[in-house]
Amino acid sequence: MDGGGKELGRPAPSGGGVAVWTLVVSNLAYLVFLLCQYHINRRRCDKSSVTRGRPDAKGDALSPDAVINLEFGDPTMYEAFWREAGERAAAVIPGWWGMSYFSNAGGLCWYLEPELEREVRRVHRLVGNAMADGYHLVVGTGTTQLFQAAMYALAPTSTDRPVGVVSPAPYYSTDLLLSGYYRWAGDANAFHGDHGGENIELVVSPNNPDGAIREAVLSSDSGKGKAIHDLVYYWPQYTPITSPAAHDIMLFTMSKLSGHGGTRLGWALVKDSDVAKKMVYFVYGSTIGVSKDSQLRAAKILGVVSDAYEPGPGDGTQLRLFDFARRRTGERWRALHAAVAATGTFSLPDEITGYCNFTKQTVAAYPAFAWLRCYKDGVEDCAEFLRGHGIVARGGEQFGGDARCVRVNMMDRDAVFNVLIQRLSSIT
Ligand SMILES: *[C@@H]1O[C@H](CO)[C@@H](O)[C@H](O)[C@H]1NC(C)=O
Repeated sequence: MDGGGKELGRPAPSGGGVAVWTLVVSNLAYLVFLLCQYHINRRRCDKSSVTRGRPDAKGDALSPDAVINLEFGDPTMYEAFWREAGERAAAVIPGWWGMSYFSNAGGLCWYLEPELEREVRRVHRLVGNAMADGYHLVVGTGTTQLFQAAMYALAPTSTDRPVGVVSPAPYYSTDLLLSGYYRWAGDANAFHGDHGGENIELVVSPNNPDGAIREAVLSSDSGKGKAIHDLVYYWPQYTPITSPAAHDIMLFTMSKLSGHGGTRLGWALVKDSDVAKKMVYFVYGSTIGVSKDSQLRAAKILGVVSDAYEPGPGDGTQLRLFDFARRRTGERWRALHAAVAATGTFSLPDEITGYCNFTKQTVAAYPAFAWLRCYKDGVEDCAEFLRGHGIVARGGEQFGGDARCVRVNMMDRDAVFNVLIQRLSSIT
């Protein structure tokens, strides 16, 4: 594709293209590295291990000595729901469909499928978690790409020095910001009142890894600070929906909403049209749009999610995704709290409760990760300690926090989660 003389956002600043491509290549290398790490416990890293090394989707019993990997946020808990949904959630794509690079040639986000746009706006209206009206919708290959796109859009291109990206600890590590425009600068609290406005703040709420509800730390200092709000967990299965969020840039992903991590589909709601155009330009420069097959599938899935909550033909209650996920995450959190209370070796953050304007109930938050702290004499590194018990989790120091904490994925399949509970319960 050559762009065909279309207006695709602003032209690249000189040298900008190189920075962007360096970033893309680095990300690819990093992803291969991650995939290899993920399967290293099962087999050496080769192509076949990626297809063979997975537990059966139905969650067959694991062997007693199997290492369970809860280091990543793989949302396979949702498979059970979508198996149940069956044909109703199947997307069928004719061979001739979606062959052009363009979806909506006149629109700001020219590769965005109109059907996906309708369903994204609809699900936000249904849940009331974000203002979608009056916002531009920019689609990306997962929030990973949109996060980079947002930083590319916000970073000044005129300064010699890359702009800092900060977030209060513990934060989800973003050490792959390999660009001439921006660099990871660490803990936002360290910048409070100290040239804070020059940095871009990443606000993740509910926060990864600890589930805390957050607001910008720096951006309010100067009133002109720049922030990116990562709201991928701001859905009713994880946290009370208190009001529709209305920030300048808000990121969401299918992965955390419905469990379709493999679809690699995320979106940003963006207030300012110039920022949105730059983000679209970044996506153009790195992947020339977003797979239409993925967009169509995401639109289908979102449609099934919303249909179940709206009056219509048939009884949709069997297919209520947020109810299913809340039930599951609630059971899991109760099991985890019981296991932690039984051992006396670990602790968890205090439970957050609040009134949810979607469920119309006061509910507890059930984060997608457990932020577990070890309290055992002589244990300085909780991740290493758990590895000795066949549990792989991500150590707290990788989030700018304490090595006595670990982040544990709560969204794996039942069989894996049950082994986690058994093993934690047996640690004294
Ligand atoms: C709560 O939801 C209702 C719609 O069900 C909406 O009209 C109202 O504005 C919401 N309130 C808040 C604080 O989000």
